[in-house]
Amino acid sequence: MNLAVLISGGGSNLQALIAATAEPGFPARIVCVGADTDAPGLAHAERAGIPTFVIRPGDFRSRDEWGQMLAAAIQEHGVGTGPNPGLVVSAGLMRILPEGFVGAFSPELINTHPALLPSFPGAHAVRDALAAGASETGVTVHIIDEGVDTGPVLRQAVVEIREGESEDQLHERIKEVERPLLVATVREIAEGSLDLAAVAAGRTGAD
Ligand code: GRF
Repeated sequence: MNLAVLISGGGSNLQALIAATAEPGFPARIVCVGADTDAPGLAHAERAGIPTFVIRPGDFRSRDEWGQMLAAAIQEHGVGTGPNPGLVVSAGLMRILPEGFVGAFSPELINTHPALLPSFPGAHAVRDALAAGASETGVTVHIIDEGVDTGPVLRQAVVEIREGESEDQLHERIKEVERPLLVATVREIAEGSLDLAAVAAGRTGAD
């Protein structure tokens, strides 16, 4: 299965996917990595010889136009087209994808989020969990729909919150759980044991 990965930051989830997909027998490969900014994580893809592109929202008149250009760049690499559309993985892309983009790819469009959705959606999930005094948080890998972190949940993992830890410390511990969960979920999708269309339609498929 062909994967397009979208990032905004350091790309440690991307790096985990690069390492996993380089293993013989892994049922997916990354065909391109896109970003909305000069993300430091693009260097992981460049080192691995994976094509990259940067498409900045500020270069367009509207979010919709940005989404169209992003979609076109991904489709140029063969993801989202034809009988084997592959999968788009938002792995730390810190942007809400426009409706047209979601319509073009979903349900073959997933995101990883550093909280146990539906708790703590949005861009400050780790901070919000700490501020709420929660005793646990975690990671959710989900299908992206038109809402903000509202799409059907695929897989989750719990992380206990430690007394007195900072946002950065907690986020790092969440990411240690997040990377293998994302890799395992992508593997299940690529193998066909997790059926995105069935989950999106509210049928079984998540197990
Ligand atoms: C991840 O925790 C992701 O869920 C969140 O941003 C972080 C990205 O980390 N949206 P990295 O760039 O993959 O290291």
